[in-house]
Amino acid sequence: MGKLEVMNHPLIQHKLTIIRDKNCGTREFREVTNEIARLLAFEASRNLPMEDVEIETPMGKTTAKQLAGKKLAVVPILRAGIGMVDGMLDLIPAAKVGHIGMFRDEGTFEPHEYFVKLPSDIDQRQIFVVDPMLATGGSAIMAIDALKRRGALPENIKFVCLVAAPEGVKALQDAHPDVDIIAAALDDHLENGYIFPGLGDAGDRLFGTK
Ligand code: PRP
Ligand code: URA
Repeated sequence: MGKLEVMNHPLIQHKLTIIRDKNCGTREFREVTNEIARLLAFEASRNLPMEDVEIETPMGKTTAKQLAGKKLAVVPILRAGIGMVDGMLDLIPAAKVGHIGMFRDEGTFEPHEYFVKLPSDIDQRQIFVVDPMLATGGSAIMAIDALKRRGALPENIKFVCLVAAPEGVKALQDAHPDVDIIAAALDDHLENGYIFPGLGDAGDRLFGTK
């Protein structure tokens, strides 16, 4: 079963409260979403492989740790996932960025894939799939299906979101038990396809389209 990690760190919870507020405007929503993504990237990158390196400090020789150079990819689910990319790249600037376009049918909430463009060596990369919202889980499940079909290794995929609904967590864990989930918050329930209390439509709030 994929692990669910809810990052109830004070800085993250404070920032999340700012963007949950319906009076938070587009500019602030965008800025704070990226700030939260940066903090989530810190946790998401916790298990990156390390290696020893011999260095000399001003005091003498020593063995120290450095990243072993695992190739990384950040893969936003369009559109709203784009709002987390810069924050992730602040911490892992060498990562390549793939895109998966997905929209939910407004009546059935079924996801539809409309675009996939990934780094050609996706099978060798540690992948962070990013999307602010995990609601029914349909979009995340379909995005991870698309990645696996193109050779991504299940153990190399993590799903990183701001707000998750219990229903979406269960659906994603059932469909992809090999994928860990990192969320800033686990909310109460889904209401007509939307997360309650949630933050509304993340794409519309990020891009000012409503
Ligand atoms: C939103 C959100 C997720 C999806 C979550 O995207 O960004 O991708 O819904 O819902 P689910 O877990 O029920 O699939 P939406 O389809 O509204 O598209 P957008 O990002 O273009 O606004
Ligand atoms: N997509 C969103 O943007 N918000 C929700 O609450 C659910 C799906």
